[in-house]
Amino acid sequence: MKVGSFLLGALVPLLSYASTIQPRGAPFKAPVTVAPGFTARVLFSNLTTPRGITLDAEENVLVVERGFGITAFNPTSTGWQRSVVISNPNFTQGIQVAGSVLYASTAGQVLAYSYDAASKSVSGAPCVIIEGIPPDGDLTTHTLQLQDGGHMLIATGPFENIDVTARNVSSGRSQIRRFNLPSTSTCAAPLEWATAEVLAFGIRNPAGFAFHPSNSNALYVVENGASIDNVTGLTAAFVNDNPADEINLVHLGEKLEFYGFPDCTTLWNPDADPTGDPQYTTLRRGDQISLLLEPQRGNAWCADVKNNVPPVLSFQAHSVPLDIKFYQSPRSPTSKSFPESFNGDAAVSFHGSFDRTPPTGYGVVHVPFPLTSSDTYNFLVQAANLTSCPGSCIRPVGLVFSKEGVLFVSSDNSGELFVIERSS
Ligand SMILES: *[C@@H]1O[C@H](CO)[C@@H](O)[C@H](O)[C@H]1NC(C)=O
Ligand SMILES: *[C@@H]1O[C@H](CO)[C@@H](O)[C@H](O)[C@H]1NC(C)=O
Ligand SMILES: *[C@@H]1O[C@H](CO)[C@@H](O)[C@H](O)[C@H]1NC(C)=O
Ligand SMILES: *[C@@H]1O[C@H](CO)[C@@H](O)[C@H](O)[C@H]1NC(C)=O
Ligand SMILES: *[C@@H]1O[C@H](CO)[C@@H](O)[C@H](O)[C@H]1NC(C)=O
Repeated sequence: MKVGSFLLGALVPLLSYASTIQPRGAPFKAPVTVAPGFTARVLFSNLTTPRGITLDAEENVLVVERGFGITAFNPTSTGWQRSVVISNPNFTQGIQVAGSVLYASTAGQVLAYSYDAASKSVSGAPCVIIEGIPPDGDLTTHTLQLQDGGHMLIATGPFENIDVTARNVSSGRSQIRRFNLPSTSTCAAPLEWATAEVLAFGIRNPAGFAFHPSNSNALYVVENGASIDNVTGLTAAFVNDNPADEINLVHLGEKLEFYGFPDCTTLWNPDADPTGDPQYTTLRRGDQISLLLEPQRGNAWCADVKNNVPPVLSFQAHSVPLDIKFYQSPRSPTSKSFPESFNGDAAVSFHGSFDRTPPTGYGVVHVPFPLTSSDTYNFLVQAANLTSCPGSCIRPVGLVFSKEGVLFVSSDNSGELFVIERSS
């Protein structure tokens, strides 16, 4: 019966209002390698493109299943239970919960629902709280992040891979903006995207960001760089290993800064093609180079931090980082909690490459803080056979640490929700 109703839910989403349970022990669709001292377990399979995830007050895991809606997951005696919270195919990625309000982003809006964690349900119609977000183009996944004091941060991506309009703050592209959330419980007139405070611009796809737990003004942002495959003068061997993906640091409360996109990008491997592209061999990983889109913004312009803020950490080219979350040791750790030594460190999801040979990414990495070098990180979990990717490999997207100190991960293409824990 359970298997039957689960399959019905998976294949006919509109009929799946009833909750379903997946017994423990389901395997990953494709094998993963896990770092020593950790285990990774699938909690639920066959989801519809799971993207952003968060926890509610009852520690249910809320997941945006893109193209389907928002679902809630909680453990039971026999397995993990999935309950449909909202059926709406328009949600793209962003999800946050503050008390009894659930926020979710669509391509052009942020919606707020009245939400009850005990029953995992919403009541009434949502309020449109923000509208006018650029809804078109390649990347409409608007990540949301609440900030203490009643603020909401919202990200936008570029209209196209290399989007020259993103140079212009008013374009609204490739940036992070901040709103003061309405305090009324009734729907007020929506806030307009165009009127929001801009926190940072020129960050191509700021897909995930988090405040450092010990510095509430330090916003760490993961960015995936443009594909530079078709930039004139660059060889296939060079672009296979460049540009780096990155972590940017935005200091709130300081002047608005430009992070380089579309003009400047970050070197991962200066020696990727010493014959075909020798012009970079004297530079180092993390250095800023120009895509020479316009003459005024050449290599010297990009290298000058007064024009372009460089990243604080570089990831291997084509990793595609999509989320970052900081670990804070729980007051009462259990045998599953991450080690105390991870306190203040970050986890970053890598969706994985689509244009690199051999493929890279397809995992979740640990980034030690404070950052001691510009490229130190290691995999916690990764697809075991990268040459088979994407195939049925994990493609991690959303991350969230529980109060207990375990890490929940969504994986969109493989349709999985899994957890990383310390092994006992
Ligand atoms: C997911 O769906 C596939 C294909 O329908 C099926 O073979 C598999 O058993 C399902 N997984 C679970 C855990 O139900
Ligand atoms: C999704 O968006 C479409 C197009 O804007 C709209 O017609 C539809 O009502 C939306 N669906 C829901 C459930 O809000
Ligand atoms: C910047 O973008 C705004 C909004 O699209 C537009 O009105 C303005 O002309 C642009 N400015 C430049 C210099 O392109
Ligand atoms: C590069 O150009 C080729 C051929 O026009 C095209 O198929 C490909 O999508 C382009 N790649 C990017 C990243 O724009
Ligand atoms: C890895 O995947 C490739 C491509 O699917 C396959 O040819 C190869 O046999 C796999 N290797 C292992 C060890 O399974």
